[in-house]
Order: sequence, then structure tokens, then C-alpha cells
Amino acid sequence: MKKTILAEQIEQARVGTHYQNYLAIRDRVLEMVEEAEVRGSIPSGYWSEEVEGFEYMFDASPLLVEKLREHCHHLTGIRSYDYRAHHSHVQPLLARKLQALQNLDRRGLFVPESLQLGGFGHEINSHLVNVDTLKFYEVMIALDHAGMLDDFYENSGEGKVVLEIGGGWGGFAYQFMTIFPKATFMIIDLPATLLFSAVYVNSLFPDAQCFIYGDAPVESLTADYEFIALPHFALSDIELVPDLAINMVSFQEMTTAQVDGYAQRMHQLGCERLYSLNRDRSRYNDQLSSVNAIVSRYYDMVEIPVLPVPYTELTLSVDQASIFRRALNFVKRPENLIVAAKRILAQQLNRSAPRESTYIYKHLAGRRRQNGS
Ligand SMILES: C[S@@+](CC[C@H](N)C(=O)[O-])C[C@H]1O[C@@H](n2cnc3c(N)ncnc32)[C@H](O)[C@@H]1O
Repeated sequence: MKKTILAEQIEQARVGTHYQNYLAIRDRVLEMVEEAEVRGSIPSGYWSEEVEGFEYMFDASPLLVEKLREHCHHLTGIRSYDYRAHHSHVQPLLARKLQALQNLDRRGLFVPESLQLGGFGHEINSHLVNVDTLKFYEVMIALDHAGMLDDFYENSGEGKVVLEIGGGWGGFAYQFMTIFPKATFMIIDLPATLLFSAVYVNSLFPDAQCFIYGDAPVESLTADYEFIALPHFALSDIELVPDLAINMVSFQEMTTAQVDGYAQRMHQLGCERLYSLNRDRSRYNDQLSSVNAIVSRYYDMVEIPVLPVPYTELTLSVDQASIFRRALNFVKRPENLIVAAKRILAQQLNRSAPRESTYIYKHLAGRRRQNGS
């Protein structure tokens, strides 16, 4: 690339909205980091180490922000390297898994990876798809099958509020906000991680009404905002009641007290639905008892089987996918029949796998218990 062209690109990126978003959000995040320190509100051991690994994001250049997705592997482990042409042998596996998910999708919930901010993936039907794309899609399907999106379908989610606890780089927020553009999507996360999600969402939805912690008191939040970014220590300040609280691949990396704090606060606020896609505990996290046991104190959790392989695995046989499709076609309604039929099928397909194991990912859909302990 010619030196002058690159210099022009850097200058354009420097004055562009993505980098300007980054600068404004970074200032806020730095304030949040300070406040967290003053409050003594520290992450789990696991996340203290992770956050150190991406401290350099506080000193990002304009071109780095333009390629923000290149750095999101700190949060979900997915790297663009694995999606370059020399890894195209993986494309058919992704395509087959996408097809299996589409067979289960009655609503058209698929949202591909955005091309913006360095989006990457293998190309399938002219869309970019990666493991994160499919994970978020699988979660949307699980939520739909559990009846947790029913209220959101009316009028594109207007007046409805969803809270994602530990929203990572903002990929699920992007999918959800694309499908339900009038809903309010709230993320509560460690301040340093908000540097990814708040920049990503603000940049991809430039016209959205966005709130970042510090704009106004948290107590004054309303569903007029389309996106809200809050630090983890603001949990007890939230008064806007979420219709749905979501956690994926995140409770498993927290401490028992943190998971309990979130589930208890959601219950206390009157949030009726809590969804989790987690292992009971991550292998290297010794500060947590069991996600399911903790959240079950406040919510009646039911497992929602989607595919007979975890989101991390791409090796789904054609037979497994078609059994699920036939089952779905057979029992179209009511909802609970579908859930029951799929649960039995999933159990049969997974008979060899120990379902009760601590380290198995489960889609769990919870209804608020009358008396949470
Ligand atoms: C493995 S990432 C998963 C991100 C996202 N949920 C996904 O599946 O793509 C775990 C997330 O949990 C967040 N996290 C860790 N400790 C947290 C805490 N105490 N409160 C809120 N979020 C936390 C991390 O910052 C990160 O966003």
C-alpha cells in the first residue's frame, strides 16, 4: 500500500465517527475504572487477568478502532485468522450448522456478522458467519422456543427492555437490536469491556439513543433509550425493570457472590425472565459453586435443548439436524410440546454424554419464583 494512501486513511479514520466515539467512550470508561477502584469493586480472579490482557485498548489508534473486531478475541476467543481463505475448509461445517439452526428457526432470526469495524467470517449465501454469529443465533432460537421473546415481537419490541449481563464485544446486542429495533438493550459489564461493546454499538447504530454511565443518574433511565451501557458496580442503582435478563458464557466465569448478586437483583426488581447459556462453572474458575444452583434460588430454570452439540462445536451430523427438523414439523404447537419433544430427542441423542456434568453448556430459561431465597 502506498505511504500517502495509508496516511490519508489514518487521517480519515482519526476524524471519523468510530474513532470519535471511541475517544468519548474511553473517557467515560476511565472514570468508571476509577470509581470501581474507589468502591473496591473488583472482578473475579479469572476476569482480573483477562482485563489486563487488553489494557492496550485504552491507547487505541484510529486504524485499530476501524478494526475493532480483530481485538474481540479477548472476549470470545474467535480470531479473524481462522476465517481467512486458507481456512476455507471450515466453511462447509459452519454452513451445515447454520442450516441446522435455520431448520429450527420459525421466525427468521438470523443476523450475519456486520462488515463494519473489521467484521470477519466465512461467506455463506453472501453473508459473513463465524462461531460468535452462530452462538448468538442459537441463543435467539433458544429464547424464542422458551417463549421469552413473545412480548418483543409486538411492534418491534417498543417499550420492552432486555438486560445482558456481561455483553462482551456487543455482538449479541447488535443482533438483538437489528431484530427488535424499538426495544431497549441494556448491557452491564466490567468497565474495560464496555470499551468494546459501547464503541461497537454506538458505531453500528449511529442514530440510536445511547446512554453511557455518567450521562445522567442511573435511577432516571427509561425505555426511551435504545442502548444503555452500565458498569458492573451500578447494579444496585438500576430501577428500570428488564422484561428479560440474559447471560451467556459469563456467569460461569464469575464468583458465587457475583452470580448471586445478579440473580437476586433481577428477582428483587421484578424481572420475570432470566436466561442463561453457561457451564455450571468454567474449568479454571475456583471461585464459583454452580450457576444453575445459584440462579435456581430465584428462578425456576428449565433446560431448552437446541442442538445436540455445544455452540463451540461445528461437527453436527446431517442426521442429527434432520431429526430435529422432523420433530419440529411434527409438533408445531403448543410451545411446551415442542420443548418437551426436543428435550427427549436431545437426551436420546446425547445419551452417551453425561448431561449433568459441570462442564456442559446448557440453555436454561427461568421464570421468576414467587419467593426467591
Ligand atoms: C467470555 S465473555 C462472554 C461475552 C458475551 N456474553 C458472549 O458470549 O459473547 C464474558 C463476559 O463477562 C463479563 N464479566 C466478567 N465479570 C463480570 C461481572 N462481575 N459483571 C458483569 N460482567 C462481567 C466480561 O467482561 C465479558 O464481557
